[in-house]
Amino acid sequence: MSEHKAQIGLIGLGTMGAALALNIAEKGFPIAVWNRTTEVTRRFHAEAGALAARIMPTESLEALVAAIAPPRAIILMVPAGSAVDDQIAALSPLLDPQDLIIDAGNANFHDTNRRDAAGLAMRFLGMGVSGGEEGARHGPAIMGGGAPEDWARIAPIMEAIAARAEDGSACATWMGEAGAGHFVKAVHNGIEYADMQMIAEVYGVMRDGLGLPAAAIGETFAGWNEGVLRSYLVEISAAVAQAADPLGSGPMLDAILDAAGQKGTGRWTAVEAQHLAAPIPVIEAAVMARNVSARLEERRVGETRFGAAPQRCEVSLDALEQALIVGKILCYAQGFAMIEAAGRAFGWQLDLPAIARVWRAGCIIRSDMLNDMAAALADDAGRNLILAPFFADKIEAGLPALRQVVAQAALHGHAVPALSAGLSWFDMMRTARGTANMIQAQRDFFGAHGFERLDGQDLHHGPWGQSAG
Ligand code: 6PG
Repeated sequence: MSEHKAQIGLIGLGTMGAALALNIAEKGFPIAVWNRTTEVTRRFHAEAGALAARIMPTESLEALVAAIAPPRAIILMVPAGSAVDDQIAALSPLLDPQDLIIDAGNANFHDTNRRDAAGLAMRFLGMGVSGGEEGARHGPAIMGGGAPEDWARIAPIMEAIAARAEDGSACATWMGEAGAGHFVKAVHNGIEYADMQMIAEVYGVMRDGLGLPAAAIGETFAGWNEGVLRSYLVEISAAVAQAADPLGSGPMLDAILDAAGQKGTGRWTAVEAQHLAAPIPVIEAAVMARNVSARLEERRVGETRFGAAPQRCEVSLDALEQALIVGKILCYAQGFAMIEAAGRAFGWQLDLPAIARVWRAGCIIRSDMLNDMAAALADDAGRNLILAPFFADKIEAGLPALRQVVAQAALHGHAVPALSAGLSWFDMMRTARGTANMIQAQRDFFGAHGFERLDGQDLHHGPWGQSAG
């Protein structure tokens, strides 16, 4: 009987779920699918072409469960949050203890931790999937989390459907217990926000500072995509900047409202970084910038009161490219350091080089630089990426350009929050004698919090009582 059954099931035939189901079927795995709206399931099957033979459409949860060979594995592709809890509750009476639910949505990793610890009626994995619809259909990057033996059960399917890096390895890896997969996906998204923001910042300097039209900016990005910055996000930025508006005569980009949306994963990363005391200012700046962008009315009022800020400035395209290269390195260095801090805090054996490798293909932040990052982290995972010789050299080479871009932007009213946050962080990270002695003195003055002396002598409070009087 079971040879006629599906090897895996999938619930939720939205854009991502449908694409993932087709990918699984295409790789030769019979799959049973179910969607809350039966019409969606029927249409999906009817439009699956040759792959329909490997897809079993079902019209009730009972039928879905019956269609899968035990011990069953069922992927959930439903909106993150309460829909996942509802679906788990609905499946609970139907599944055996050895059956496995895989939450492949963009879950908050705290929810995944909670579900993992809740003693569910079945096995449970939390899996981060990146790459948008195209990735889900033809090869996403997959970040698994949960019990390793559960991951081992589905690894052959996940490795078959995942993107492949240039060396042929599958971008599907177990990250650690419980919410580790969703945590790594959240940091991926934080970096995604930061990469996008820094590209938007140099776009802004080119548009308003240099007065370049969108098409020329697109060509510039396309040129950069042939070099160190070769990446999916620079590639698509070139494409979007060069596209024409089908409803008008100008560029598409110029017709788009400058208020960015967000589903929240970047914010989760920023919030978690604060809990972990892990500095990720470039990502935080990117989240902040999205929030400010959405305050359109306030910005309009601000411009009326203070006048438009950005003015023409003198910056070379080479300097902008170098600034973006350095900003990107600084941002990833922060992201990987946050992952390391989380590993320590949550008791996860997070393998930084493996994470860099899994991001090399399929996901939104895929880029050539991740090959070098994987190599640098493999060399010494405990060392901050900015100190890896390859990246330290790149930073040194591009630092004057980053300074020039941030300074010119500040002088001429261009907001470059992510690039400047990266630069300030870097300047702190390369300064042995910082300014926190002032903070410590202030804390001791008003709260007797105490301080350490540079010379190690045994005096831990200042003479404030005498001078303050
Ligand atoms: C991915 C993306 C994806 C994310 C969208 C939208 O890796 O494929 O990160 O998971 O949901 O990019 O995210 P925002 O709405 O938060 O921008």
